Amino acid sequence: MEEREGAGRVRAMQPGSARWFERGTKTIGGAYGHDGRYNPPFPTYIERARGGHKWDVDGNRYIDYRLGNGALMLGHADPDVNAAVAAILEKGTHFGNDHPLQVEWGERVQRLVPCAERVRFVNSGTEANMLACRLARGFTRRPKILRFAGHFHGWHDELLTGMTPPFDVPPSLGLAPGAAAGVTMIPDDDLDLLEGTLAADREIAAVILEASGASWGTVPLPASFLKGVREVTRRHDVLMILDEVITGFRWAPGGAQERFGVTPDLSTHAKIIAGGLPGGAVCGSADILRGLDFTGDSRHDRYRRVMHYGTFNANPLSAAAGIACLKKLDGGEATRRAEEVAAALREGMDAVLERRGIAGYVYGEASTFHIYLAAPLAPRVQRRADLVTTDAATLKGIPTTMVMAVQNGFRARGVELMSYTGGMTCAAHGREDAAQTVSAFDDLMGELAGTVVATL
Ligand SMILES: Cc1ncc(COP(=O)(O)O)c(C=O)c1O
Repeated sequence: MEEREGAGRVRAMQPGSARWFERGTKTIGGAYGHDGRYNPPFPTYIERARGGHKWDVDGNRYIDYRLGNGALMLGHADPDVNAAVAAILEKGTHFGNDHPLQVEWGERVQRLVPCAERVRFVNSGTEANMLACRLARGFTRRPKILRFAGHFHGWHDELLTGMTPPFDVPPSLGLAPGAAAGVTMIPDDDLDLLEGTLAADREIAAVILEASGASWGTVPLPASFLKGVREVTRRHDVLMILDEVITGFRWAPGGAQERFGVTPDLSTHAKIIAGGLPGGAVCGSADILRGLDFTGDSRHDRYRRVMHYGTFNANPLSAAAGIACLKKLDGGEATRRAEEVAAALREGMDAVLERRGIAGYVYGEASTFHIYLAAPLAPRVQRRADLVTTDAATLKGIPTTMVMAVQNGFRARGVELMSYTGGMTCAAHGREDAAQTVSAFDDLMGELAGTVVATL
């Protein structure tokens, strides 16, 4: 079983990663730095990266479809981003003051993101969603948030339950008592249900959703649903928060709101916005962000405003990297290059499944790809088209053994995925990367067909 999951090959090619992991287990809580890096027998320890590739401590090269968890639209070590960061290092890394680059960064965001009448910087996507919910409650004076099953909004207590099946069971110990008491959860892609829920409950301040569909489009959503959410929320005078932590600056330079022509009241951002450094933002209408304003009236400022701190908000390094990155994304050429490679990957890998008669399909939007594969014990189907689904429990419930087999199988062939069985592309990837990846996938499917993966 171990060999079948690719673990044997990984051990042979990554002795250095194995040693760092062993050493790290005595220091690093949980042995991995992020739950998403869990990948037995050990994670890949990376030494350097450039463009669309990275190299591990043993010198192995990987075509990188993880890209700093989706943060690197231009690829690793982009020369303009690097130069902008280097120029700031000379002046100091963090002042704890407002500074000109904060404003320039905000103006760059405003130029691209349709809803961004105002921008408030934070340090991550998790923080952006925490602040957006607080702003929405502060603005409407209503206590509840409506979320959709399967959507991921960061690791904070309030919006965590619902990210993974079974969706009504908290995915973690240690959540604060009653943390999700103000959250209503319903399945997505059902506008009648949304309409009925908002009509019945006047305590809902905002509806939050991932613009891509759950977990960066692992569970796709039709664009008509986003448009429908906009109309229904308007009709019921409820705010719409679009989580663009993944889709922002990726689905289009202005994110999913530009791509689909849907302008939310608030959108949340991280990853690409800071050019590969830590950072995030809440964008939205001036009226709502006015909740953060001080007026000088002590009663107002103590009792009637939204509070927000954060030591590293809009720190100069992230601001410089963000400005350099957003400047290069303006115009859409980088988006087009990344999308072209992703389309070639989707088409090429799907053709492999067709030719080999494997029960699976490849899908995805913009610069992403997702591979759905049925397990040998799954109900048999005659045609691959019969597998196509938007059921969140199915698409987010691929067995861990299969996920690890696919991830480690790719890893042994010089390819790194993002999470589950999918990946993202960047402007620095090329057609050669796509061709090598399709060839690796073909070889991998030859190994897994009939054992880990079902055939037709
Ligand atoms: C859609 C979405 N929202 C929020 C987050 C949380 O962002 P962060 O990891 O920066 O806290 C993520 C992270 O991947 C995400 O994909």
